[in-house]
Amino acid sequence: MKDSLKLAKYLAGLGYGSRKEVAIAIRDGRVTGEGESLRFDGEPIDPPHGLVIVMHKPAGHTCSHADQGPLVYDLLPPRYLKRDPKFSSVGRLDAETTGVLLFTDDGALLHKLISPKSNLPKTYEATLARPLEGHETALFASGSLVLRGEDKPCLPAQLEVTGARTARLTLTEGRYHQVRRMFAAAGNHVEALHRSRFGPLGAEDLKPGEWRILSEPERQTLTG
Ligand code: URA
Repeated sequence: MKDSLKLAKYLAGLGYGSRKEVAIAIRDGRVTGEGESLRFDGEPIDPPHGLVIVMHKPAGHTCSHADQGPLVYDLLPPRYLKRDPKFSSVGRLDAETTGVLLFTDDGALLHKLISPKSNLPKTYEATLARPLEGHETALFASGSLVLRGEDKPCLPAQLEVTGARTARLTLTEGRYHQVRRMFAAAGNHVEALHRSRFGPLGAEDLKPGEWRILSEPERQTLTG
């Protein structure tokens, strides 16, 4: 009895239902195996607390529950949102931005990754409305670019011109709509934006909308 209460509490914390619902599922024999081979309805149980996921975010999905339209969370098993501790994206991407988006239920890791002190480089591939003029690399690297409505200059950022209207921008901070606003400050307009790297992680192995759980070594590369 004690063990099945413990198991119900554990599975409820992973979002498999309320403790009562999970207790009924256990009684009905839907939970089988034990330890590493524990299964729910024949499927392996989700990883315990400390879960980190990388997603290739597709265009049109929002990261905020407050926004209209499909959510990035709609692409994940609904039980992930019922996990306790809470599961959420690591920062946000705009609805139309694609690329690497992380999620975790590890609050300390989340804090560390989104902290301005983390200095973790994030790389974006931007497609612009107008050809680059040549002054942008120095402007973004200067450490003196002040975005509209702000008074603190952006930290120096590295721009690599990859085509007449395409560029790769690496930032170590994450202000609201930062890439779009930096190019707007340079007199241009971002037409499409893709985050190709978040620190050491890319999403080349994933199609838009796909995701996977990070391995332990990958997780460790994030915290260095
Ligand atoms: N900068 C932006 O402008 N948008 C994003 O989604 C991420 C960075």
